[in-house]
Amino acid sequence: MARFRALSLTGLAIVTLLAVVQSGTPAQDKPSQNDSKAPAVAPKARTAGPSAYAGSDTCKACHDAEYKSWSEGPHWKTTLNAKEGPGHQGCEACHGAAAAHISDPTDISKLFLFTKVSAKDINARCLVCHAGGTQHMNALNSVHAKNGLSCTSCHTIHHSETKEFLLVKSQPELCYSCHLAKKAEFEMPFHHRVNEGLIQCTDCHNPHGTEGPNQVRMAATQDAVCFKCHTDKQGPFVYEHAPVKVDGCTSCHVVHGGPNAHMLRLSNVNLLCLQCHTTSSFSSAPGAPSFHNQATFFQACTLCHVAIHGSNFSSTFFK
Ligand code: HEC
Ligand code: HEC
Ligand code: HEC
Ligand code: HEC
Ligand code: HEC
Ligand code: HEC
Ligand code: HEC
Ligand code: HEC
Ligand code: HEC
Ligand code: HEC
Repeated sequence: MARFRALSLTGLAIVTLLAVVQSGTPAQDKPSQNDSKAPAVAPKARTAGPSAYAGSDTCKACHDAEYKSWSEGPHWKTTLNAKEGPGHQGCEACHGAAAAHISDPTDISKLFLFTKVSAKDINARCLVCHAGGTQHMNALNSVHAKNGLSCTSCHTIHHSETKEFLLVKSQPELCYSCHLAKKAEFEMPFHHRVNEGLIQCTDCHNPHGTEGPNQVRMAATQDAVCFKCHTDKQGPFVYEHAPVKVDGCTSCHVVHGGPNAHMLRLSNVNLLCLQCHTTSSFSSAPGAPSFHNQATFFQACTLCHVAIHGSNFSSTFFK
């Protein structure tokens, strides 16, 4: 439902597609560029001569396999949007007007061929319909796009092996195909169970780009993504532990996986705390509890300061 709404909201962008299709197709007669603002453009294009649209059914006879993958995938739904005209429906929404190709099948010069164009052009072509909503609003400026990836680096329209999302491969293999080093992190003794299929890279990352760094998503509340699942850590607490809110979870935890229990940055909890709490700030201060004396190397700090993520009852996080 939401996606349909997003698509209809992109009506404006869709009008722009017409302009793109037309200006990108040399044989398209000039006047129709102005028509792109008028709703009547599509029917006109259908009868506009050599670059006219043929309709998806005409392709079936020669491209049975592509027709099948298209009609069994989500993109047949473009045909439901009749008022957008043939330039937005079926095969030709992506490959461009194909009547010329039908009259001479060896003529593929006017078709939009995804294997022959730049990543930039591919992104633009797909985003005509997929720019709506919040998911893809940073797609053109994403780290992925800026590093030369296109929609078809991860998606395939005709050869997908996944049930959902038309992916080239399922996760996490898709991501590991370029980010192999990350695999080792998820094989560490303490890790988010991504390889086991419990959670996915895209629970935390948006491969279509984000406003913040590292393509990391936000929780629905616009807070750190971690709160999406670890709601108990979010508070608000009467007594907040400053770094949880200020520096974020990563001041104490690694996010993918690591060698230490609870995915802590350091194996020794005390040393972790002492990165910020110098012993002089408490153990040697006059009146400080003697059990803070690090010389004896006793219990972990969290043995007493148990509510380390914040507390409603104790300013020193005892409960
Ligand atoms: C009469 C048979 C026939 C029909 C009908 C036909 N095609 Fe083709 N198509 C071909 C042939 C043959 C080729 C290969 C041409 C070549 O490589 O020289 C081809 C190539 C293509 C390619 C390029 C494939 C590549 O390798 O990149 C696309 C895209 C394509 N057709 C789309 C369409 C679409 C969309 C339609 C319907 C509007 C359509 N075709 C209708 C015969 C047909
Ligand atoms: C949503 C966009 C989209 C639609 C709709 C679409 N295609 Fe494609 N087509 C692609 C992309 C992208 C490729 C490159 C290969 C891939 O990613 O699957 C492609 C590749 C092809 C090829 C080259 C051979 C191959 O399979 O890779 C042919 C032929 C083709 N399409 C025909 C068609 C026909 C016929 C239809 C309608 C029945 C159609 N396409 C609908 C995007 C589309
Ligand atoms: C680096 C890989 C990658 C690239 C590049 C990429 N995608 Fe995706 N896309 C995914 C993955 C993985 C999913 C499914 C997981 C998710 O986000 O929920 C997805 C989901 C989608 C979905 C369905 C769910 C949604 O977000 O609405 C659409 C539509 C989509 N992508 C379109 C695009 C378009 C258009 C482009 C090019 C501008 C693109 N993608 C580029 C990996 C990618
Ligand atoms: C003419 C408009 C149009 C164009 C162009 C288009 N799409 Fe789509 N796309 C749609 C529609 C409509 C749906 C179905 C939405 C739904 O089911 O709610 C869809 C669905 C998807 C999905 C979601 C699949 C799922 O399982 O949820 C992905 C991924 C996707 N498109 C990727 C692409 C890519 C990649 C391109 C460019 C090669 C592209 N689209 C070009 C209209 C388009
Ligand atoms: C539990 C959430 C979560 C999951 C799941 C996750 N990431 Fe991350 N990832 C993050 C966060 C948060 C950062 C930013 C790290 C930082 O701030 O120190 C990040 C950073 C990255 C970076 C850039 C920085 C670096 O470490 O190189 C890459 C690349 C990356 N992740 C890839 C992946 C891949 C691939 C997967 C799936 C196999 C994945 N991530 C799964 C949360 C996650
Ligand atoms: C086709 C190769 C390719 C695929 C597939 C791919 N990536 Fe990337 N990714 C890159 C490149 C290239 C960069 C930029 C250089 C770098 O940081 O390694 C990048 C960067 C990133 C970053 C770091 C962003 C930053 O701000 O530095 C994250 C996070 C990321 N990718 C996550 C993912 C996830 C999650 C997937 C799977 C859904 C994925 N990638 C799939 C090539 C890919
Ligand atoms: C999609 C849900 C999800 C998101 C988002 C998420 N986590 Fe987790 N996290 C889990 C699950 C589930 C577990 C339990 C893992 C298990 O039992 O294998 C876990 C475990 C942990 C653990 C280890 C707990 C232990 O006792 O060893 C830490 C630490 C942690 N997450 C921190 C984070 C941080 C930091 C973030 C944000 C970067 C984050 N998580 C984002 C689901 C999530
Ligand atoms: C000041 C350091 C620090 C910060 C910041 C921090 N944690 Fe922790 N976290 C710890 C320590 C220490 C433990 C181990 C507690 C123990 O030893 O009993 C822990 C344990 C956990 C656990 C497993 C046990 C449990 O309580 O569920 C999860 C999950 C977790 N943290 C998630 C998070 C998330 C999510 C954030 C960010 C909102 C975060 N942590 C921020 C220090 C921190
Ligand atoms: C990234 C820095 C950082 C780390 C790591 C950190 N803290 Fe803190 N902690 C702070 C800051 C900042 C405050 C608030 C300022 C203050 O009162 O000193 C604070 C406050 C506290 C307080 C309350 C102090 C008071 O006066 O009420 C306790 C108790 C505490 N931390 C214990 C710990 C323990 C135990 C650990 C290790 C699990 C730890 N902290 C790790 C930065 C850190
Ligand atoms: C055996 C229990 C126990 C252990 C272990 C412990 N603390 Fe405390 N901590 C206390 C008590 C009791 C107080 C005083 C509370 C008060 O003033 O109400 C305190 C107070 C603090 C304060 C607040 C400032 C102050 O000096 O009063 C900080 C910060 C703190 N501890 C950090 C740590 C760190 C870091 C560790 C580990 C290196 C640690 N504590 C280990 C019991 C403990």
